[in-house]
Amino acid sequence: MPDGEKVQTKAKVGDNLLDVIIENSVDVDGFGACEGTLACSTCHLIFKQTDFEQLPSPPTDEELDMLDLAFDLHETSRLGCQVIVTKEMEGWEIKVPAGVSDAREPS
Ligand code: FES
Repeated sequence: MPDGEKVQTKAKVGDNLLDVIIENSVDVDGFGACEGTLACSTCHLIFKQTDFEQLPSPPTDEELDMLDLAFDLHETSRLGCQVIVTKEMEGWEIKVPAGVSDAREPS
């Protein structure tokens, strides 16, 4: 997906954001490499501050450890496979960082 391109997707409440990317066939290079098992950090997403504050559940310690390894980490970063879609997310714009780093690969 070219840098800066916007893609509109549908999402089912109860799915996680990795599911949303897969189900909508959004082409993001290397995204979700560990298939949601909290082992890669390639599903890194960046939220707007106001949206981030409304996320239903805070990250677990395991997610925070993995986020530390993510490319281009922000204060409003989360791992997509750990964020469950809620009705309140309708209309949110969520940014996919320009690069990925797969925590499973030695750098
Ligand atoms: S898909 Fe690997 S940590 Fe989310």
